[in-house]
Amino acid sequence: MKRDLISLDNFTGQEILQILDLAATLKKRTIGFSDHLKGKAIGLLFQKPSNRTRVSFEVGVYQLGGKCIYLSPQEINLGKRESTQDVAKTLSRYLDGIVARTNSHDDMIALGQHANVPVINGLSDLYHPCQALADLLSIKEHFGSLDDLTLAFVGDGNNVCNSLLLGCAKVGMNISVATPRGYTPDGKIVAQANSYTKNNNAKIVITTDLREAVKNANVVYTDVWVSMGQEEESPDRLKIFQDYQINAELMALAAKDHIFMHCLPAHRGQEVTADVIDGPNSIVFDQAENRLHAQKAVLITLCQ
Ligand code: CP
Ligand code: NVA
Repeated sequence: MKRDLISLDNFTGQEILQILDLAATLKKRTIGFSDHLKGKAIGLLFQKPSNRTRVSFEVGVYQLGGKCIYLSPQEINLGKRESTQDVAKTLSRYLDGIVARTNSHDDMIALGQHANVPVINGLSDLYHPCQALADLLSIKEHFGSLDDLTLAFVGDGNNVCNSLLLGCAKVGMNISVATPRGYTPDGKIVAQANSYTKNNNAKIVITTDLREAVKNANVVYTDVWVSMGQEEESPDRLKIFQDYQINAELMALAAKDHIFMHCLPAHRGQEVTADVIDGPNSIVFDQAENRLHAQKAVLITLCQ
């Protein structure tokens, strides 16, 4: 039976930790190549632009001995040239897995429902699970463990924030989210995340007070204020979020051994100042690299 990675909801905390362990093992290997996907073809069905997701999946599939086929937004034109259902059924006749980047999460769900091969969410408007896996890998790598750590997410309660909420809750990490009023993460996702912490006592805080969130945090994380597809809201958002910038003054409140994280692409001078993102506590390019290792572990787990 095929299994998708549409959201981290579909995986237990234990399974997430296993993926992270496999990713760490793959990263340590001096020879990155293997035959896990020999003879297999993976499609990358993208409705939005990408640097990290596209390149890390293409290189990951190549290193696992498989073949990658990139399908640009113009090529498939999901739901316009052809229904999502027909696209999923057709691609399942050729491919052994689909990595999708969709505008709407409903399209991601429809792809999962109608494809007979694993569907991996490479970002939708609601979630970015591959990013959260790479982030947890980066945090574990840096601190040696995920225990007794707090991540503070500051900015927009967006797709990256939603996946971090679920990921942290599942593996037992504390997470504090600070957003302007009206930009909090989805209430249903917060409730879901809270339900996962019953077994591990992780703490979730949702606030509008960024100083409260960042105080003593081990990880300070932000993302763009204007996500892909929200370009028309840009003038309003830039005003609404202006007090939610990560700068040196805010970082001074974090734990002594703190790290700064950002999924990238970043806008220096907006959500983060250059001195922070380019400073010694920033691990943003380790995160970017770890997309490759985490996704290779996902591909082996789901598509082998
Ligand atoms: N972080 C991330 O998903 O980057 P891309 O949009 O460049 O793929
Ligand atoms: N929240 C951002 C993440 C980009 C990787 C977006 O959706 O555009």
